Amino acid sequence: MTSLKLSGVALPAAQAGAIDLALRVSDLHADLREELAKDTVLRRDESLARRTTLRVGGPAELYVEPASETDLTATLQFARLHDVPVFFLGRGSNLLIRDGGIRGLVICLAHPQFSRIEVAGEFLTVGAGAALKSVANAARDAGLTGLEFLEGIPGSVGGALRMNAGAMGGWIFDRVSLLRCMDGRGEVHEIPGAEAGARYRGCPLLVHQVALGAVLQGVPAAREEIMERMTASNRKRWSSQPRQPSAGCTFKNPAPDLPAGRLIDELGLKSTRVGDAMVSDVHANFFVNLGGATATDVLRLLELVRQRVREARGIELEPEVEIVGEDLNPT
Ligand code: EPU
Repeated sequence: MTSLKLSGVALPAAQAGAIDLALRVSDLHADLREELAKDTVLRRDESLARRTTLRVGGPAELYVEPASETDLTATLQFARLHDVPVFFLGRGSNLLIRDGGIRGLVICLAHPQFSRIEVAGEFLTVGAGAALKSVANAARDAGLTGLEFLEGIPGSVGGALRMNAGAMGGWIFDRVSLLRCMDGRGEVHEIPGAEAGARYRGCPLLVHQVALGAVLQGVPAAREEIMERMTASNRKRWSSQPRQPSAGCTFKNPAPDLPAGRLIDELGLKSTRVGDAMVSDVHANFFVNLGGATATDVLRLLELVRQRVREARGIELEPEVEIVGEDLNPT
């Protein structure tokens, strides 16, 4: 059995490994801190559950909120040099983090530097960290239609671009005229929206690059008309979707005319529970946290529902929520 000697005490391999890892994280933290400006947030062991809408999951080993593109580049180059995995966290609205948390660096573009919204004519230049609701409001204030559907999506521009988020018949890439992103080496690229290859709930380009922002195009319209659409979208959402914490829709719709919510509902699975995770009784494709759910509860519920749908209908449901992180180490 391999062991690490610390102050003359021989430790079992698992414990030694854990100490080894903790020392490495501590070194990485100290080295990275030196490379970053003071106003860039860098923390160890940052709780992430409160940064997700589902409110489950373990911590980030290292958590960074860069205050500038320069610090984002420095962070990405540091990660590459030290072979540290990187995960980008948006507003955590489509995310299921396992109970053991996320190893390596979690980067969140929440600094105001990345959350700007600027309007010029029909175009809105928006940062990845901007809230979708703020984008919808800015478009409304500028008398631009086409972005009303963003109003009720509890996410950030960055996450919405990566997921090609959509609701109420629209999706974000319909409106993207230019996409600004950064690759793993920290280099910035600008790509016309139509060339990003976006499809239902995905954008392949943003699997290996991070969105820094986009230029969205609206269409001039009367403000009253826009407000009416936003109100209708808001009303539909509140009447058809639950208010408890959730990660939005759990599964992708297997086909446009075959919504996962209806499939699950037809099998009588509403209100099915594992621990404090429950299939919503309002919309069956939403799994809600009744208060004390763990990621493990949610994952068990997800498997249970998947299995029932497979057995009853021969359909393989594919998760729409992004599932990341490590299982809890039982030691
Ligand atoms: N339905 C049921 N029972 C349910 C839920 C839905 O019978 O428990 C039926 C509805 O009555 C309706 C059909 O299924 O006839 C579709 O339902 P809904 O209009 O709610 O749309 P959806 O396909 O379930 C999609 C998006 C949502 C988005 C809504 C509203 C996906 C996976 N989901 O849901 O996006 O908000 O449309 O436009 O594409 C998300 O991505 O996280 C999300 C919530």
